[in-house]
Amino acid sequence: MSGLAQDKLASVDLKNHFWYKNAVIYNLEVSAFKDSDGDGRGDFTGLTQKLDYLSALGVDAIWLAPFQPSPGQDDGYDVADFYAVDKRLGTGGDFAEFVNQAQIRGIRVIMDLVINHTSTQHQWFQEARKSKTSKYHDWYIWSDKLPKDYKVGMVFPGYQEAVWSMDSVSGQYYYHRFYQFQPDLNYANPEVVREAQKIIGFWLNQGISGFRLDAVPFIIEIPKGPGNNPKLDYKFLTDIRQFAQSRKADVVILGEANVVPEENLNYFGKGGEGIQMMFNFYVNQFLFYALASGKLEPFKKALVETQIIPDASQWAHFLRNHDEVDLGRLTEKQRNEVFEKFGPDKNMQLYDRGIRRRLSTMLGNDRKHIELAYSLLFSLPGTAVIRYGDELGMGDDLRLQERISVRTPMQWTSDKNAGFTTADTAFRPVIDFGEHDYKKINVAAQTRDSSSLLSWTTTLIRMRKACPEIGLGDYTVLDTGSPDVLGLRYEHNGKSVVILHNFSDQPQQTNFSVKGADILYDLINNDDKKPVAGKYNVSLKGYGYQWFRVNQLIPN
Ligand code: GLC
Repeated sequence: MSGLAQDKLASVDLKNHFWYKNAVIYNLEVSAFKDSDGDGRGDFTGLTQKLDYLSALGVDAIWLAPFQPSPGQDDGYDVADFYAVDKRLGTGGDFAEFVNQAQIRGIRVIMDLVINHTSTQHQWFQEARKSKTSKYHDWYIWSDKLPKDYKVGMVFPGYQEAVWSMDSVSGQYYYHRFYQFQPDLNYANPEVVREAQKIIGFWLNQGISGFRLDAVPFIIEIPKGPGNNPKLDYKFLTDIRQFAQSRKADVVILGEANVVPEENLNYFGKGGEGIQMMFNFYVNQFLFYALASGKLEPFKKALVETQIIPDASQWAHFLRNHDEVDLGRLTEKQRNEVFEKFGPDKNMQLYDRGIRRRLSTMLGNDRKHIELAYSLLFSLPGTAVIRYGDELGMGDDLRLQERISVRTPMQWTSDKNAGFTTADTAFRPVIDFGEHDYKKINVAAQTRDSSSLLSWTTTLIRMRKACPEIGLGDYTVLDTGSPDVLGLRYEHNGKSVVILHNFSDQPQQTNFSVKGADILYDLINNDDKKPVAGKYNVSLKGYGYQWFRVNQLIPN
């Protein structure tokens, strides 16, 4: 390479080249989003019809929950065929049309990749159980005897009896980290690894931009077996990322791995050669603790503990996802504080560790508190992932079992069944009661109301996009002079933003310095601040927040 080419390469700001570093990701289930054919269940054509809505909201990428054929015992996370589209959601053609229409709008599509296990209905398992000489037998993990610790390591306590179950056809026990109907695949078998690559290659060829890799720590367990501390094969992650990138250079793999900070670099790779993104479950749990208790220190500590990651790597931050709020890493006392505030009834809690409610119901439908939470989410160091309906403040239905409570149909209008379907009965009930009734909370009403949560969220997303420092830059947790106020400063390429959040419902006064800042331009309220004796004094209302740009309102 010539000297010039080398210099050019060296001066390229690598971080700027990763689209996922500053994307807004929107997670949805096709079945719950919009029904186009009146059969009561959402489908790809319905989703395609709603792409303009997502585009107007500012969504850069849609993360699709599993949409492949499945008996649906775990809402699609029990896949029965990795190479097809569930007929109830549309045809392969409908899928292709959807991807094409998303691309036209500049929206990428990422999909759940659920390869830790299959459904027991999957052809591979059906073959595997029939005969030990079938090539598929070794695609799963078997034991002739019931292992001693067959109850250790269950993911769904209370709903799962064991991690080893007897298969009546083979007469052997098979291993399943999750429900009994989800036998784990055996990644010690190179054929299974090769098949996982084929699945990735297949969907990349269908126009997919990346994968939300389900249950990462369980995929990489070696040897597959019971116990709480199995060895993990991190190299699998580098291999799978390299494979995916060999097919599509700008692919992203976003891992679901709820791990402690010491583990982070094992997943990202020390030089960023592992999976590019991970959900920051660690910060999420302390964030919920901070929202519930008003105590910020553990949350700040979690931010600092997860700060150092390679340049190419990125955190995905979220408030709520499609599962329970997992509070398993809090102390019992902390967890109980969150339970007391956000999920006091037993029916709101799940798996001894979490809460199965949406954010809006947890926050008592308090607009100020909801705004605080979302303003915070969009200002956390990383990429923001939101869940369908949260932009409206949708609620949950605790009559539905386990995590289905937070997966009710999208509320489009005040018409029957929330405009989700023209059928008499939706495949899952729409919320038609209480404060979160679709007649009160729906897209149509909020679109025409400039003070609605939807309008506010749209503005917030636009503001976030005008502050790329958050996704790309380095950050400092500021000493704001108030124990209730979190202050974050981001810097990137000589540009900088400062963002404050007051976790208390009472007004707070801050007093802080910002190195090199002559003026803080207020991005929301036109209330710019100059320092007094080198310090900024900003007062915040209860649950108030402020976004400032340092020295230049519109950066050059
Ligand atoms: C992940 C998913 C969850 C699913 C489980 C089994 O944890 O988020 O919804 O039940 O994997 O696939």
